[in-house]
Amino acid sequence: MKLTVCFSGLSPDPWVQGLQQAFPQAAVSAWAPGAAPADHAIVWAPPQQFIDEQLGLQTLFNIGAGVDALLQLKLPPSLKVVRLDDAGMSVQMAEYVCHAVIRHFREFDGYDADTQAGKWSYRKPRSRADFAVGVMGLGVLGERVAKALAVFDFPVNGYSRSPKDLPGVRCFSGAQSLPDFLQATRVLVNLMPLTPETENILNKDTLAQLQAGGYLINVARGKHLVEEDLIVLIDSGHLSGAMLDVFRTEPLPLTHPFWHHPKITVTPHTSARTLREESIAQIVGKIQALQLGQAINGVVDAQRGY
Ligand code: NAP
Ligand code: GLV
Repeated sequence: MKLTVCFSGLSPDPWVQGLQQAFPQAAVSAWAPGAAPADHAIVWAPPQQFIDEQLGLQTLFNIGAGVDALLQLKLPPSLKVVRLDDAGMSVQMAEYVCHAVIRHFREFDGYDADTQAGKWSYRKPRSRADFAVGVMGLGVLGERVAKALAVFDFPVNGYSRSPKDLPGVRCFSGAQSLPDFLQATRVLVNLMPLTPETENILNKDTLAQLQAGGYLINVARGKHLVEEDLIVLIDSGHLSGAMLDVFRTEPLPLTHPFWHHPKITVTPHTSARTLREESIAQIVGKIQALQLGQAINGVVDAQRGY
C-alpha cells in the first residue's frame, strides 16, 4: 500500500511522518513530479499535474471539510473524494460562532473601547428574543453550531437543502424557504459549502432581508459573499456589522477595506483548524475500512458539490 501526500502552501513533512507512524504497513511519501504511483492520496489544493500523473489513485483524502478547491480540478469520475468528517473541527467552529454571537449581542467591543478609555459605563441589556440566529448549512459543522447556540437560549433558525428536524432549531429547507429564513433571522451564520448554487449567495438582496440591525458571521468561504454589498448595507445602517473569517482573496490584501472598517472584525481563516493527529487517525481508519470493503463517511458527491 502506497500513500502520497500533496499539499499547496503547507509542508507535507509532519503529515508524512505522522501517517507513517500511524500506519506502519504503508509506504508514505511526499509527492514530487514524476513520483511512483500511489494507491491513496492525502491532499490540500493539489495541482492538476498531480491528478494527471497519479493515475493509480483510488481515493483523495482532503485535509479539510470544504472540497471546493479540489472539485475545480479535472478528476477521473472513478476517483473517490473524501472530506474530513469533523475530526475536531465542529467544536472549534461552535466556539468561534458562539464567541462572535455573544460578543456582538453583549456589546463587548463597546465595553472594550470604554475600559480602554478608562470609562466605567453600562449599556442597557438587550433582549435575547430579538437576536434570532440563523445558521445557513446544517451539516457536520452547522448542526453542532446550531445546537451550541441553542444552549445560550438564542432563538435559532437553520437552513439546509434537505429537510431537517433538530431539537431547539426552527428548520427551513430549500431555496423557496430562504426568504422566510432570512426574515426570521437577525444574526446570520454562513456554514454552507461553496458550490455553483451557493457562490455569491450573501449579496444585497439576501442580506437586505435580514432583520434590522442584522449581523453577518461568515465562516464558510469568501466567495459566498459579495464583499461590496456587505459594506453598502453596513454603511447604510441596515446591518450593524460582521465578523468574517474567510475572504475572496486570502490572505486578505492589506489595502482591503475590511481591515479598517469599524464595524467589521477580521480573523485569518482560523475558525476551525485542521487538527493533524485527529485527521491522521480518521484517514488511516478510513483506508483500513476501505481495505476491508466497508463503507466510510465523508465521501463527496461531485454532482452535488459537497
Ligand atoms: P457539510 O457537512 O457538507 O454540510 C453542508 C450543509 O450545507 C448541509 O446542511 C447542506 O444541506 C447545506 N447546503 C449545501 N448546499 C446548499 C444549498 N444550495 N442550499 C441550502 N443548503 C445547502 O459541510 P460542513 O462540514 O458543515 O462544512 C461547511 C463548510 O464550512 C465547508 O464546506 C467549508 O467551506 C467551511 N469550513 C470553513 C472552515 C474555516 O476554518 N473557516 C473550516 C471548516 C469548514 P443538506 O444537509 O440538505 O445536504
Ligand atoms: C477549511 O476551511 C476547511 O474546509 O476545512
